[in-house]
Formats: sequence, C-alpha cells, structure tokens
Amino acid sequence: MEKNLDKNNLPKHVAVIMDGNGRWAKKQGAARVFGHKNAIKSVRDTVEGCAELGISHLSLYAFSTENWGRPKIEVDALMQLLVATIKSEMKTLMENDVRLTSIGDIEKLPGKCYKELQTAKEETANNKGLNLILALNYSGKWDITQACRKAIYESEHKGFKNEDLTDLKFESYLSTAGIPDPELLIRTSGEFRISNFMLWQLAYSEIYITEVLWPDFRKEHLHEALLNYQSRERRFGKVLSE
Ligand code: IPE
Ligand code: IPE
Ligand code: MG
Repeated sequence: MEKNLDKNNLPKHVAVIMDGNGRWAKKQGAARVFGHKNAIKSVRDTVEGCAELGISHLSLYAFSTENWGRPKIEVDALMQLLVATIKSEMKTLMENDVRLTSIGDIEKLPGKCYKELQTAKEETANNKGLNLILALNYSGKWDITQACRKAIYESEHKGFKNEDLTDLKFESYLSTAGIPDPELLIRTSGEFRISNFMLWQLAYSEIYITEVLWPDFRKEHLHEALLNYQSRERRFGKVLSE
C-alpha cells in the first residue's frame, strides 16, 4: 500500500478514460495500433493496483459508440486485441480474484469478441475481489436511452406509473444498476472532456486529469490520482461546516 494513502478514504469506484494510445505510438513513429498493444500493461497494472487497495469497482472506458468511426484497420485491431487480451489475462484475473463484467451494447461487438467476453464473465462470476467493468460499445447517451426504453416498457406492460420514476428508480435501469457512482474519474493524455462516458453516473465525481499517456500509466500514477482525490473537499452542493 502506498504509504501516504489513507485507506479509510478510498473511492469504492474508480472510472478511467484510457486515452492517448495513438499519440504515444506517434511519438515513437509507430502506427496507432502499437499504442493499443502497449496499453495492456497499463490495464494490468491499474487492475492490480485497485485490487491491492481493496477498491470494489474499476470501470475502464475501452471502446465508445463513437470509436466505430475510426479506420476499419484500427477497429479490427482493437477487437482482435480485446479477444487476445481477455484470453491471456484470464489466469491473472483468477489469481487476483477479479470479477469481469461489462457495460455497453456488447451484442453489437464482433461475434468472437462477444463470445470471449461472455466466457470470461462466466468464469470469473464467483470471484469476490475487484469488479472490473469494461465499457465496450458504451456511451453515456446510449446508457440513458436504453434506461428510458426499459422504463417505458415497464410503464406500458407492468403498470408502472409516470410519477413512480424517481432518480433512484431511474438508476436501476442504467447499465450500472447496483454499482455506486464513481467517486473518482481519471482521464489520461491531458484532455479536458468526458467524451460521452458515464454522463449520469459522473454527476458528482471528482475529476483527475493527467498528462500521462495511457500506455505510460502505471500503479504509481494511480496512487497519485488517489492521493489527489483524498485532498478534495466533496461538498455535493452543500456548505461544509467551517
Ligand atoms: C485511447 O487512445 C484508446 C481508445 C479510444 C480505444 P486513443 O486511440 O484515443 O489515442 P489518441 O487519443 O488518439 O492519442
Ligand atoms: C474516449 O477516448 C473513448 C475511450 C477511451 C474508449 P476518445 O479518444 O475516443 O475520445 P475523444 O475523441 O478524444 O473525445
Ligand atoms: Mg483519444
């Protein structure tokens, strides 16, 4: 455990927008895919770092609904990499008691990815440690829209009334139902935006942006982000006593 971290003030849920793979590759005169390949180490280190600290949920934004708009060669490579990584990391996930779950419209992923993901989810389902949430074909707008569809369906078929839809009830339709909102959002590569990530769930998250490009992100950067989080005063719109 990082010595300066207060273990009683750790987030239950850390969300990460893993960004900067392309720029990392470009810096070394390589193709963008090279950056994606080198992102796996960062994922492994971050998962391990969160597991060690006893953090309950780690959400990684791996592929957005907008990322389909990238060149086919890059999208294909990302999907292949996903399959290969899930396969190669299974052992580590089991050893670290990590449960793999996902959010996003995963049925629209290539068949092989979908199957590999489902298998890994089933195999890790009984693990009791960190819940690793992969956001795949995910976007915040998609999440809110699919939640609305569920709510409308219930009102049409189950006698669920309009006035019964509270914000708490709405959360039960989101893909993150049952998971606390992220207290901390980390974005790498120095971009100041949330790029359609968890629009609802990030309402009160503390945002930490680092210049570090994702393939360079390691456990010590996670610790830095957590230390920074611990220095924040979370007011939730209220006035704290002086
Ligand atoms: C993040 O890195 C990975 C994905 C979005 C899949 P990028 O590929 O966006 O890298 P940059 O932002 O172009 O450097
Ligand atoms: C956000 O990164 C999406 C993921 C990390 C999966 P992008 O690189 O796609 O976002 P923009 O284009 O910089 O907003
Ligand atoms: Mg990017």
